[in-house]
Amino acid sequence: MKVRYLVWVILLALAALWVGLGQNALPEGPGRELVLQKCQTCHEIGFVTRERQTRERWDSLISEMQGYGLKVTPEERATILDYLATRLAPGAAAPAPAQPQATTPTAGASVYNNCIGCHQATGAGIPGAFPPLAGHVPEILAARGGREWLIQVMLYGLQGQISVKGASYNGIMPGYGQLSNAEIAAVLTHIATQWGNALPAGQAAFTEAEVQAQRGKNLTAQQVLSTRQQLGLR
Ligand code: HEC
Ligand code: HEC
Repeated sequence: MKVRYLVWVILLALAALWVGLGQNALPEGPGRELVLQKCQTCHEIGFVTRERQTRERWDSLISEMQGYGLKVTPEERATILDYLATRLAPGAAAPAPAQPQATTPTAGASVYNNCIGCHQATGAGIPGAFPPLAGHVPEILAARGGREWLIQVMLYGLQGQISVKGASYNGIMPGYGQLSNAEIAAVLTHIATQWGNALPAGQAAFTEAEVQAQRGKNLTAQQVLSTRQQLGLR
């Protein structure tokens, strides 16, 4: 009886810790604003706040992010590294929980905030680096199998050489399998209907069930690339 009680206490404490670490809160300190500004253009700040790393590891993580396209001056890089190495060092306390967010998590536009750093608020992308979604998502949806494939891109990412409207791209699109089915359905409906895009005739908004149907396939970003080649996109 006692042992069972203890197990529950430990499980609850772990759950509380996990929730605490996942909060969108960064500890105060010099460089905090810079981290908020630079580190959430491509992903949520939770990617950063949940980590507790040594200076060496943060140093190589920042280099990894620069490889993905993080733009910082040497001075900004040093400030960010100092901040992360001291405030998010191994053993650093979990930050105070953030205020609950007012936005509805399933609103496509708010999920699209994860994408803006690369595909831009206009959906135009950046030539040569990040493909456009404006004027392009309907082409994918119109292709046979394109609708399921878009869900796979969201869940598993996409990596390797592709061509969009005659321009070539060879980058990494991260997978977003950590988002809920509702969030993925919402952001896909968003990109299919923004910037003059429209769903092809006969197609309705994405549903949670459609997203669920593509989960559990455990594709790699390279496998998603080979399926793309069967869609006949130019
Ligand atoms: C240009 C886009 C971009 C920017 C800016 C960016 N990241 Fe990332 N980050 C990524 C990608 C892509 C991943 C990999 C996502 C995945 O694995 O699903 C990632 C993953 C991470 C991870 C998870 C560990 C890992 O290796 O997968 C951490 C920690 C992280 N980023 C920290 C940061 C920090 C700190 C900053 C700001 C200094 C930052 N990121 C800015 C693109 C970016
Ligand atoms: C770190 C940068 C980055 C982020 C963040 C990102 N993407 Fe991408 N995305 C890319 C790159 C790069 C490609 C092309 C990959 C390649 O070259 O193989 C791509 C490809 C795509 C494609 C397929 C286009 C095609 O014709 O194959 C879609 C759809 C897409 N992204 C949607 C999104 C959505 C929606 C989000 C946010 C939930 C998002 N992306 C976030 C970089 C990003």
